[in-house]
Amino acid sequence: MSESQGEIVLELRNLYVGYYKDLNILQDLNVKARKNQITAILGANGVGKSTALKAVFGFLRPNEGQVLLEGEDIIDVPTYHRILKGLAYIPQQPGIFKDMSVEENLELGGWTFKRDKKQIAEKMEANYERFPVLKEKRKQITGELSGGQQRMVEISRTLMAEPRMLLVDEPTAGLSKMLSEEVYEMLIMLTEQEGLTILLVDQEIRHALHISDYVYVLELGRNKFEGPASDFDDLEKAFWVA
Ligand SMILES: Nc1ncnc2c1ncn2[C@@H]1O[C@H](COP(=O)(O)OP(=O)(O)OP(=O)(O)O)[C@@H](O)[C@H]1O
Ligand SMILES: [Mg+2]
Repeated sequence: MSESQGEIVLELRNLYVGYYKDLNILQDLNVKARKNQITAILGANGVGKSTALKAVFGFLRPNEGQVLLEGEDIIDVPTYHRILKGLAYIPQQPGIFKDMSVEENLELGGWTFKRDKKQIAEKMEANYERFPVLKEKRKQITGELSGGQQRMVEISRTLMAEPRMLLVDEPTAGLSKMLSEEVYEMLIMLTEQEGLTILLVDQEIRHALHISDYVYVLELGRNKFEGPASDFDDLEKAFWVA
């Protein structure tokens, strides 16, 4: 798919972000995520991939630049309101409540947005269809589930808020090959069948290239390469030649 196709849902424009005032990790970062596509941000450890997602979700305030959600600069919009605008974030570090049941975790994802009981029940059912194992284990304490199943609970809980734009940071870290495949399949399904737009950060370069439409490669907090995922077949060229 060529660069110019598809409505832009999220844009990071000339973004400078850091953890300290005068030290920008991200320098003039430019990223566009287009509707119903998976856009990947790839790059070495510590390059600033997670930092970029934190800035989009409002956990870090950029020192310069814009974060545009459906054309609106959301830099001054608090995270809670970003969520109401359809943004969701699955962080690199899991954030589920391990001492609560699967069902309670999912309910929490729904109640935050004051949906009615019927709507929550429908959303839960949709999640159980995505991950049937969660229905089986819905009364079980989440901490007792396998790592992969806990990841499914986390993804499902995030989807309870019905996001349109999903930020996902290394969704398959620590998962078995089989579970990873399931998670990637699910990301594709979310864009193709449920109309979501995804900005994906991943270390699993081959997998990410396989499922993504468009790819950005960062180096030292800056854009290095970008292009349709199909242009990155030559991994050597894309990643390891400075
Ligand atoms: N909370 C923090 N306070 C200060 N510096 C931080 C903090 N979090 C990350 N950094 C620094 O910011 C830089 C970018 O980190 P970031 O987590 O965005 O990298 P990443 O590309 O996601 O790496 P990885 O692939 O290892 O997850 C690193 O140099 C890191 O040490
Ligand atoms: Mg990271």
